[in-house]
Amino acid sequence: MPSPIRIIAAMVVAASPAMAGNLQTNIKNVVILVMENRSLDNLLGGQTTAGIENPINNGPYCNYYNISNPSAGQACSAASDYNSVANDPDHAVYGNNFEFYGTFTPNNAAIAAGTLVATQKGFVQEQIRLYPSVAKATIGKQVMNYYTEAQVPVLTALVKNFVTFNHWHSDIPGPTDPNRAALTSGTSYGHGSNDAAFSSHGLPQRSIFQQLSETSHTWINYYDTAGGTGPDAEFYNWTYTSGNTGRVQSLANFYTAAAAGTLPEFSYLNPSCCGVGTNSMHPSGKISDGEALVKKVYESLRAGPQWNKTLFILTFDESGGFHDHVPPPLAPAPDSLTYTASTPGGSYTFPFNRLGGRIPTLLISPWVAKAHVEQLGTNSAGQTVSYSASSVLRTMGTLWGFSPFNPRVAAAPSFENLIQATLRTDTPVTLPSPASFTRRTAAKEFIA
Ligand SMILES: *[C@@H]1O[C@H](CO)[C@@H](O)[C@H](O)[C@H]1NC(C)=O
Ligand SMILES: *[C@@H]1O[C@H](CO)[C@@H](O)[C@H](O)[C@H]1NC(C)=O
Ligand SMILES: *[C@@H]1O[C@H](CO)[C@@H](O)[C@H](O)[C@H]1NC(C)=O
Ligand SMILES: *[C@@H]1O[C@H](CO)[C@@H](O)[C@H](O)[C@H]1NC(C)=O
Repeated sequence: MPSPIRIIAAMVVAASPAMAGNLQTNIKNVVILVMENRSLDNLLGGQTTAGIENPINNGPYCNYYNISNPSAGQACSAASDYNSVANDPDHAVYGNNFEFYGTFTPNNAAIAAGTLVATQKGFVQEQIRLYPSVAKATIGKQVMNYYTEAQVPVLTALVKNFVTFNHWHSDIPGPTDPNRAALTSGTSYGHGSNDAAFSSHGLPQRSIFQQLSETSHTWINYYDTAGGTGPDAEFYNWTYTSGNTGRVQSLANFYTAAAAGTLPEFSYLNPSCCGVGTNSMHPSGKISDGEALVKKVYESLRAGPQWNKTLFILTFDESGGFHDHVPPPLAPAPDSLTYTASTPGGSYTFPFNRLGGRIPTLLISPWVAKAHVEQLGTNSAGQTVSYSASSVLRTMGTLWGFSPFNPRVAAAPSFENLIQATLRTDTPVTLPSPASFTRRTAAKEFIA
């Protein structure tokens, strides 16, 4: 936790018009790449940079195989994870419930009152329930282990050169489409699963895409045509009814535009998902293929004519059922909509009043500090709180002059305080190549 003195300083800094001015003057192009299904303790769990609270710096963390029976044994976080995690962990709303609270149907009122706090102890038991034929030791490694710095050299180089958030959560403790909607509009509009509305342009709420078009700012949603996520701009009915489908383009166009210096003000990138051969880092997709995508996007921006005005945000949709030791905090509901699902433990209604798991998020730009680890943020009410996907919309509102779309976004801390007044000239031109995972190395569980 930051000291009280640090919190006061952060409040002053976050509220400063000078910081908003740095953002507005220095950043003309925002690029956001939203990867898939990894928690901070999983993907950045082996990063040794001070200030990142993770297994290598603060662990190990352990989960019992059976929460009700500790004598049955436990699995603890340890170095090295699989390139390809074969058994995708549970990340439904109720799966997240079990992982965080040890029950599919936690008492919402007690959570809201602060008397029920997540223990983060149910990840292993839930994975065993889903995959009863897989050895418990393998299960434990799948959800508790973490990637070493050597296993994710691209991310390690980015952490050592740019800003990493230590307290950034997904907006919703559930799956990808609701979280991708929350990132781009501040709400999933009551959706808690990847239902048909997302693929049939059924979301009616205002998105950042509509907001930017209506205020004469440019955007393109670039997507990997191999498919599997989004394209997220197409969730929204507006994109269709306003004739803006031409702004949804192949990722190949992104690289061409980056080289030519013709990127729009807002570039939103969808990776491919979710099996081997895709690049979002979603199980069973390989971590090394995701690293190759991140490297290519970074190097394209770094070599392009727009780099000196660019802010590249690398983030994830949600934590994907991988262990993280930080309980998700409460947050205001964006609207009055709820989501009800039947679970293995009975019906459960989610009121969208808390965040999801902690996920990796980095700010990459010649305008951010080198190797800075950001702790909690400060919202406009002066509260010291965790960052979340809504922090993107809050900050873009400062950059492009629009009001928060709803109470969740209004209460999210923005991050213009992380944009500096001086251009850095020491940002790396290239990043390391992804690690080659082979069965030959010390940890034979690495899947090549
Ligand atoms: C967990 O342990 C409890 C208490 O011993 C037992 O009743 C229950 O069946 C166990 N659950 C599983 C999934 O093994
Ligand atoms: C994670 O991956 C699954 C695919 O297995 C996908 O359905 C889901 O939406 C992704 N995101 C989350 C949060 O689960
Ligand atoms: C999209 O909006 C149009 C016009 O308001 C409406 O007719 C149509 O039913 C909507 N489509 C969906 C999928 O909601
Ligand atoms: C970015 O700024 C640096 C330092 O002023 C300058 O050397 C470099 O040429 C600029 N790059 C581009 C692409 O304008």
